[in-house]
Amino acid sequence: MAAEDTSGGDPEEVEDIGSNPDPRRPIGAVIAQRLGRRAALRGLLGGAGAATGLAERLLSSTAAVAQPAPAPHSSGNAPGAGISTLRFPELRHQSAEGDAVAEGHEIQTVLRWGDPVLPGAPAFDPLKQTAEAQARQFGYNCDYLDFFPLPQGERDRGRGSDHGVLVVNHEYATTQLMFPGLGDDRRARGRVDAAQARIEMMAHGLSVVEVKREDDGRWAPVRGGRFNRRITADTPMRVSGPAAGHPRLRTSADPEGVRVLGTLNNCAGGNTPWGTVLTAEENFNFYFLGETAETGAQREAYKRYAITKAGSYAWGRFEPRFDLDREPNEPNRFGWVVEFDPYNPDSVPVKRTALGRFKHEGCNHAVAPDGRVVFYSGDDERFEYVYKFVTARPWNPQDRAANRDLLDDGTLFVARFEADGRVQWLPLVHGQGPLTAANGFAGQGDVLVETRRAADLLGATPMDRPEDIEVNPVSGRAYVMLTNNVRRTEAQVSPANPRPRNVHGHVLEIVPPGADGGAPDHAAAEARWEVFIAGGKPGVDHGAQYHRATSEFGWLSCPDNCAFDSRGRIWIATDGADDAAGVSDGLYAADTAGRGRGLTRLFYQAPTGAEVAGPRFTPDDTTLFLSVQHPGEDDGSSFDRPSTRWPDFRPDLPPRPSVIAITRRGGGPVG
Ligand code: FEO
Ligand code: CA
Ligand code: CA
Repeated sequence: MAAEDTSGGDPEEVEDIGSNPDPRRPIGAVIAQRLGRRAALRGLLGGAGAATGLAERLLSSTAAVAQPAPAPHSSGNAPGAGISTLRFPELRHQSAEGDAVAEGHEIQTVLRWGDPVLPGAPAFDPLKQTAEAQARQFGYNCDYLDFFPLPQGERDRGRGSDHGVLVVNHEYATTQLMFPGLGDDRRARGRVDAAQARIEMMAHGLSVVEVKREDDGRWAPVRGGRFNRRITADTPMRVSGPAAGHPRLRTSADPEGVRVLGTLNNCAGGNTPWGTVLTAEENFNFYFLGETAETGAQREAYKRYAITKAGSYAWGRFEPRFDLDREPNEPNRFGWVVEFDPYNPDSVPVKRTALGRFKHEGCNHAVAPDGRVVFYSGDDERFEYVYKFVTARPWNPQDRAANRDLLDDGTLFVARFEADGRVQWLPLVHGQGPLTAANGFAGQGDVLVETRRAADLLGATPMDRPEDIEVNPVSGRAYVMLTNNVRRTEAQVSPANPRPRNVHGHVLEIVPPGADGGAPDHAAAEARWEVFIAGGKPGVDHGAQYHRATSEFGWLSCPDNCAFDSRGRIWIATDGADDAAGVSDGLYAADTAGRGRGLTRLFYQAPTGAEVAGPRFTPDDTTLFLSVQHPGEDDGSSFDRPSTRWPDFRPDLPPRPSVIAITRRGGGPVG
């Protein structure tokens, strides 16, 4: 999600509200201990850097400090030729009404806001939009996307790259670009009428759409496809795990606390080895309003999740469940990871409370050597934490049904990034350490409803907005996207968050035992961490860190989502580079090992105002799907006078968030 003005003057990142009251772990002696002499001499990472062993490794594989950039070049050159395994000619940075991809590739628009998904969906007409139409059409602001090959199970055999089920999150509404006459900023949300609020609700959730590559090589949605589905803010869901039925989840519509309507602010996500979707509820706080936020019995808990009396959306004026004064427990029913089966359009989505309640950004997995499954998830707000969930039992590859409730039983951990290069995983288990009745946790349900406070008490490391965390299929290292944190002060710098006023963010690697050639054990209680890259412009932005051959267009700002191709190369999508660095958001690729490690190169650049999200390759790497979210969400841009009309460029249509497919001209793997 991009910049939002929540203060009437001070523009703030929407995930950047910051509700952690005690972002501790100042620089102090730990940094001195951690700084190698060589690093200190170079001013590595702006004053805080890698530990001795890590620093040696870093310095031998990447240029740890800003190096003089190579001579400027135009699109068509291949920076780092002979160093990077990536062959595409790099793009130039641009800010334009249209998007662009590296030469030799082409962009197809697959699904746009308003495209029909379900039978009976009318053709998109933004001036005649209704909630009924929107509930059958592709929703707004696509984010996480995933591709589930057809027939089911083909992914395991490395095929199924021409036909599948696309699953797409719809994170939020850019109200001022959806409706005419509501102004040109996010405050438009407060000006909607009841009918518009219902349209917003139906534009949330997910779309599940069968897609197929036609004979001409172009991707198209399958009209009437039997997997097609819309999930909205109204779709009935089940609650499971230790917080199911908890008194704080009970409402007048659901006195048992086990059945919730809808899923909200689904940002990134993930999948399971048994082929289900995990969709992550991020900024759920925006949907609630009411004085109770400041006066009610749960006000401290609300505050820790940045739930305010004004809210952001106006839904609470029209539907009682979004009004805290009438339903003070409703927010406790959001902020979870939701699992559903994309191959069964009738399946009831399940809120898996064992994975904790926070602003979940992504939920990607790795399988431990003993078959237990480990899910990584970031809490995307400044000074929040990195989590992982480890299932109690191994998954069963032979019997899909046996895995149905695997996510209800396991242990949630939060990360402490130590100065000596270790990651310690601290269990969030009721009765252990400070997580006791004396601290207000009557049971595991309380620990999960107030995951953030539990993690505070354990001494987790406050991070620079942890977003997507994904595991490299080749090396087994996990990559943590840390978007930025302009509020971190010198005193709050920590080794894994080494820059004060971190405008451009960075990417950390979590290296579990057995990574880099062995059998990575993501379930282990400890791992190591390293800095992979640090954003910003080399030579200009303090502490920017890439491979020394990174070009003047290869540097990036605000890493948000990532994906890996089957060769283990990382593809990083950005969110917020326009505000932070004056360039449109894009998709950058780099080797993660070998001579080209950390040599990022610009592959795709989004239209103005948009972020890039949800990168996902087909199993054979010949198609890369991307979400282009909130095109035209620029200052002063409105439905009536948008900054772009991408992707249709028709005078009668506003910009439309869309899923695109990028393929190589003439075929072959992308990149
Ligand atoms: Fe919705 Fe954290 O990006
Ligand atoms: Ca984001
Ligand atoms: Ca995101």
